[in-house]
Parts: sequence; structure tokens; C-alpha cells
Amino acid sequence: MQKCGYKRGISQLDFMTNIEKIAAEIGQFQVENSDQLEQFRLQFLSKKSELQTLLSQIKEVAPEERKAFGQQVNELKQKAQDTFDIHKERLESSVTFSGRAEDYSRPVSIPVVGALHPVSAVMNEVCTIFENIGFEIVDGPEIEDDWHVFSALNFAEEHPARDMQDTFFIELHPDVLLRTHTSSVQVRAMETQKPPLRVICPGRVYRNEVITARSHCFFHQMEALYIAENVSFAEMKQTLLYFAQEMFGAETQIRLRPSYFPFTEPSAEMDISCKICGGKGCNVCKHTGWVEILGCGMVDPNVLNSCCIDSKKYTGYAIGIGIERMTMLKYKINDIRLFSENDMRFLEQFR
Ligand code: DAH
Repeated sequence: MQKCGYKRGISQLDFMTNIEKIAAEIGQFQVENSDQLEQFRLQFLSKKSELQTLLSQIKEVAPEERKAFGQQVNELKQKAQDTFDIHKERLESSVTFSGRAEDYSRPVSIPVVGALHPVSAVMNEVCTIFENIGFEIVDGPEIEDDWHVFSALNFAEEHPARDMQDTFFIELHPDVLLRTHTSSVQVRAMETQKPPLRVICPGRVYRNEVITARSHCFFHQMEALYIAENVSFAEMKQTLLYFAQEMFGAETQIRLRPSYFPFTEPSAEMDISCKICGGKGCNVCKHTGWVEILGCGMVDPNVLNSCCIDSKKYTGYAIGIGIERMTMLKYKINDIRLFSENDMRFLEQFR
């Protein structure tokens, strides 16, 4: 006969269900950071844990079954403790920035690192060479007016460079055009700064040209301008030699050939000894041993006067460098179109 007030014991079935449920929860618990580890401790190992509740219910189990159930609960407690210890040790030994435990046995994913476009790299190099001898970078707009691109630079009205074939004009406004050279920025510099003035103007220019392996409708130039009292052609030549040897190596030779530009007088084009064949003659230098890399000259007094600089007091030189041409020579690239095609097989070679 049952004693009066004897509570009905928790059945073996209830107990088994709870033990299995908790065992499954322990097995599936995700422990990836210290917050989750603490959550695990509270749920399975603290005084108020589900296991402790289970233990406190043992007295309600029929006496003959208590020992076996007690044993099972204790085994489960041990399992929870072991799981906790393993995760704690793993978290403590893994140093992470985010607080997340990392698996160092995972295959490494290598990040893809970008690189400068070869034209940008050469442009930076050219700028640095001039900055090292006191030139300062100045900027100007790509959408320009006739004055800064042509008139102030002494281009006569009928000069062929103003022809529609060379220049992109804006149909609705004939005075607005895309600059065909960065010489426009030297005008802006002279209009806004007083001599002595020593500036470089890097940037993109546009020409209404047929696109071929050697010419494009947009490319990059860097203009250098030095205006002061008594600036001589000899000074310009020395600067050009310094530039060529910094850029292409100490053994590089230069030669100046007479030329014509409306904004310089006298004008010259500069060649360097061919880097590809070492001067012996090849396709790039057309078997002459020399390659043209820039135009230069003494600033025409008309240009100084247009920019309100006293041409009796001041003289100066200007240099115009084609960046794509320089890059093609430096990296032995034979087609200018490659620079703007965004073909990764080409660009990846400059990482
Ligand atoms: N502006 C010329 C061009 O685009 C290049 C040039 C030649 C610039 C001679 C100069 C120079 O400053 O002196 O063809």
C-alpha cells in the first residue's frame, strides 16, 4: 500500500527523455566565442543548470532506480564539463582579432591585391623625378576653352591643330573643347602665379585620332614649366639629361633635334638612346638607335605676354612628355590600346 502523501515518482521514461534531450543539446551546442562558452556553462554546469534540476529530482525516482539514474546524470555532467574544458582551452589558445575562434587548419584564402595601372605608375615616377628638383604639381580642367588650349599658346587662327580632326569640340559651344595637351595648364599656372615659377602638370588629354596600335583618342601627358629671370636653354638641357637618366638609367644618352611648336622658340624634340636594342638598331627605334620621347623649348615671349608676364624680364622653358610612350618603352609594350582595354591578363603583369 502506498504511503499517504507519497508523491508519484518521476517515471523512468520521463527521466530517459530528459537525459537524452540534454545529451543531444550538449553535443550540438555551438561554441565559437567566449559568449557562447558562458552560455554553455550557465545552461549545463551552473547551480541553476538543467542538469542540476535533473539531479534534484532524483529523490522523486523510485528507490530501486535511483542509483542507475544518478549514475547517468553524473556521466552527463562529466560530459558537459569535458566539453566545456575542451572549448575553453581551444578559445584561449587561438589569438583572433575579432574575438572569433579560428580554425588554423583551414585552407588559406589569399586576398587578391590590386596594383597601380602601369600608366599611373610611370606618371608617378615622372612626377617624383621633377618634384625632387623643386617642381610643384598643379592641376587644370580636361574640359577647356580655346584660350587656354590654343590662343594663349600662340596658335595662329589657321593652325592645323585647331582643325576639327584633331580636337573634340562641343557642338553647341565652339569655345568649349576637350584639351588636346596639358600645355593648357601652364597657361593657367602663369595666369595665377608670379614668377619664379616651377610647375608640373600631369593629366589626361584627348584627340580626335583614329585608334591604332600607336595612337589613341585619349592619353596622358606631363607638362613641365620653369619661368624665372635668366633661364637658359642650357639649363633646360641639363634638366632633360637628369630626367632621362633618372628615368631610364645612368647610361642613357639624349639628343635634341630642332623642331617647331607655336608656344616655344627655339623648340626641340628629345630622343634617348634606345633602351630595347641598346643603340644597335631595332624595330622600336626604326634602326636609328634613338627614340623620341618628348617636345621642349624656350617659352615664346608671346605666350608670356598673353599671360601677363613681362617677357623682357623673364624667360623660361617648357617640356611636354607623353606618358604612354614612356610606359611602352619602359615595359616593351607594342600596342597603346592595351592600356585601356581592362584585360586582366595584361594588367596582372604589373602586380
Ligand atoms: N603640347 C605639345 C603636344 O601636345 C607637347 C609639347 C611640346 C609641350 C613642346 C611643350 C613643349 O611644353 O615645349 O604635342
